Amino acid sequence: PRRMTPRQIIIDTDPGQDDAVAMLLALASPESLEVLGVTAVAGNVPLALTEVNARTMCELAGRTDVPVFAGCPRPMMRPLHTAEYVHGPTGLDGADLPEPTMPLQPGHAVDFLVETLRAAPEASITLCTLGPLTNIGMALVMAPEIASSVREVVMMGGAFFEGGNTTPAAEFNIWVDPHAAHLVFTSGIPITVMPLDVTHKALTSAARLQALRDLGTPQGDAVAGLLDFYDRYDMEKYGTDGGPLHDPCVIAYLLDPEMFGGKRCHVAIATDDGPAIGMTLVDWWGVTGLEPNATVINEIDAAAFYALITDRVARLPMG
Ligand code: BDR
Ligand code: CA
Repeated sequence: PRRMTPRQIIIDTDPGQDDAVAMLLALASPESLEVLGVTAVAGNVPLALTEVNARTMCELAGRTDVPVFAGCPRPMMRPLHTAEYVHGPTGLDGADLPEPTMPLQPGHAVDFLVETLRAAPEASITLCTLGPLTNIGMALVMAPEIASSVREVVMMGGAFFEGGNTTPAAEFNIWVDPHAAHLVFTSGIPITVMPLDVTHKALTSAARLQALRDLGTPQGDAVAGLLDFYDRYDMEKYGTDGGPLHDPCVIAYLLDPEMFGGKRCHVAIATDDGPAIGMTLVDWWGVTGLEPNATVINEIDAAAFYALITDRVARLPMG
């Protein structure tokens, strides 16, 4: 079989249980993905917790070699809104994981993004964004020339046919920092979007969680515990038998794009104050005549997705 060099990625994240699983999926796939660094942002819980949680997950994956940076503690223009009502007070409720001992890197996540992208060849680095886009928006303001080094932004964010999960119009990541999202969607960088339209087709089930527990490893138990806690809120909210697993869709797309289907569209972000702020205006039917700026994903092979997660979590060293 042909050997490919792993794709270089930076994970920008606000862990969060589903972010945590996305990190494990990436860190367990070194033959496909080289994780250059993890940049934490405020979102599901405050930055003081997301940066700790990011380090916790690197340690659980046995990957203390991956540098973790703390980024922006609040969105560009709006006050920070967190989501402890979904994720619990720690952001990683559901698993009893030790406090990390690996250090946080000195320096700001946005400086790491700017410096790494400035030094990188044209279209070489993929940004995997799993939270509000504050760090990426800020980097683009500080150093617009870095856009050309980004191969692609693959983001979890937005919602269209499915409606919003945080307001009737908006999905959480975009709603928390719509101004940063606007900067990303107008940057000219190639974008692939995993909106609620696809993540709501990637529901957990009792059997899918059991398959993780059956691995009999600390990571399998941790992931099952995290998702068991995380699912409760959405199962009640939507009346479903499982909860969506949003952020791992970003990493699964990089590992196996064949699992997904979507369409090239123009996407704009509503940034005006009012009830629609944070809405992703997806021109699915091409009615604006605007050139597409994103691939919007709305289909997933959910069985293959959960099989991939279980397979990769099984690979992680017992520690
Ligand atoms: C997104 O918001 C957070 O709750 C999740 O981590 C995910 O990134 C889903 O709307
Ligand atoms: Ca997230």
